[in-house]
Amino acid sequence: MSAGAAGPLREAPAWGRLQAHFAEVRKHHLRDLFAEDKARGERLVADGAGLFLDFSKNRVTDETVMLLGELARERGVEERREAMFRGEHINVSEDRAVLHVALRMPRERSLIADGVDVVKEVHETLDRMGAFCERVRDGEWRGHTGKAIRNVVNIGIGGSDLGPVMAYEALRHYSRREMTFRFVSNIDGTDFVEATRDLDPQETLFIVSSKTFTTLETMTNARSARDWSLAGLGGEEEAVAKHFVAVSTNADAVTEFGIDTDNMFGFWDWVGGRYSMDSAIGLSTMIAVGPDRFGELLAGFHAMDEHFRTAPFEANLPVILGLLTVWYVEFFGTRTQAVLPYDQYLKRFPAYLQQLTMESNGKHVTLAGDRVDYATGPVYWGEPGTNGQHSFYQLIHQGTEIIPADFIGFTHPLNPLGEHHDLLTANVFAQTEALAFGKTAEQVAAEGTPDQLVPHRVFEGNRPSNTLLLEQLTPYALGSLVALYEHSVFVQGTVWSINSFDQWGVELGKVLAKKVASQLGSDTEPAQDHDSSTNALIGRYRAARR
Ligand code: F6P
Repeated sequence: MSAGAAGPLREAPAWGRLQAHFAEVRKHHLRDLFAEDKARGERLVADGAGLFLDFSKNRVTDETVMLLGELARERGVEERREAMFRGEHINVSEDRAVLHVALRMPRERSLIADGVDVVKEVHETLDRMGAFCERVRDGEWRGHTGKAIRNVVNIGIGGSDLGPVMAYEALRHYSRREMTFRFVSNIDGTDFVEATRDLDPQETLFIVSSKTFTTLETMTNARSARDWSLAGLGGEEEAVAKHFVAVSTNADAVTEFGIDTDNMFGFWDWVGGRYSMDSAIGLSTMIAVGPDRFGELLAGFHAMDEHFRTAPFEANLPVILGLLTVWYVEFFGTRTQAVLPYDQYLKRFPAYLQQLTMESNGKHVTLAGDRVDYATGPVYWGEPGTNGQHSFYQLIHQGTEIIPADFIGFTHPLNPLGEHHDLLTANVFAQTEALAFGKTAEQVAAEGTPDQLVPHRVFEGNRPSNTLLLEQLTPYALGSLVALYEHSVFVQGTVWSINSFDQWGVELGKVLAKKVASQLGSDTEPAQDHDSSTNALIGRYRAARR
């Protein structure tokens, strides 16, 4: 079977078998599954690349795992995975290779894609980034007035922001503490103003991160940054050279903006924006943690890539995670997936995953352009534990929806403090236990609960979760964790036969915003060429601003 050439999903033989199997499995409570099978908690687990997954608290049996594996095979996951690693143009709507895995291949590897050794180019860029980062970190790179750089502001949006800010927060423990790192993404001027209000332009370096170097938000913020710098540096144009670097695939636009390509770090069209945090888009991360730690991050990514490429499906972490998502979305009708990191440093991880998962799999046509007749990518969301427990967990425990949840925990804290870590981890295990097993009316009544309160205090249980356990939040662990979700997205997208690597759904709003912007600012009364609601809103705004 050629990559992506799977037929209709509902006609896959394994799909029919899964349907029949689901009718049976749905009747079982996790309480019974565990009671009947004492080894379940030790068997339905997998590990690789420093990551342990307990998926036993899911509404599955060994047969489910086997059938889902068959479905993956029938849908061509193996072939498409190989095609991705070979550099074939699996992003068919943009006619591009999908090679984020090449970003973390070791130097001695070689991968020829479209006639070019991409691994060689990756390492040339990494070397340039490393040399630049060391100069900034050592204070050798001086600003226009001769002061060392103390502040780094990354300007970017989407994948050119979420990866850098998530990685900075996640690896803050390892970061250069005497330096300040800020991230400006929103076109709302507040973002830029608040990020720079206490910074000295003489000590501030801007990294303008944009794959295309045309994104409205980023270019608007970059122009404001240039004005801010020039105002603080005596208005001399040449000051820009010492205070601006660019990360982009578009050298012409970088030059046109006024940044010398010597101060540009490139990447390639085969790196999707949401798959780019380990490319030059990670420049701010590398300045923060240093080239060696950045190398460890890449090693973690690579370890998970190798695991994904070589482990049998039944022991393959991204395959299991991706297929479980398909299982819940298609058969249980779930529409959301919670991701709950029990580590404060991972506070931006759910936001990062939202772009990775939803921009990738929020699609309603197949690779062949046909409308799907099944559900695709769920909404991913979450917050760090334990904070979420005192907020939205009520709904996960007692709401009317099933919300599969990934709990992410670590055995070793980065900041040991009294009992904190045991208490934190106790909550991970307790939550998954409560979700799976709940509390029956009999148990509630036996506690002496008044009759009228019993229904309120019952926990139905049977709510699925994964527990991901890692040793410590190191750069390596972060790389492995991110790659896990990248490949899980790939597995889902392949089963659904959608293109996880384009994002046409963001275009229409961008085009309309340009038109509306010109109408909001126009001196003459603009044409009433929208619907009545949009026309009236434009009119109201213009009147208020007059
Ligand atoms: O609007 C969506 C998007 O294209 C994302 O896919 C991308 O990560 C983001 O915009 C930023 O794009 P760029 O890096 O080209 O500025």
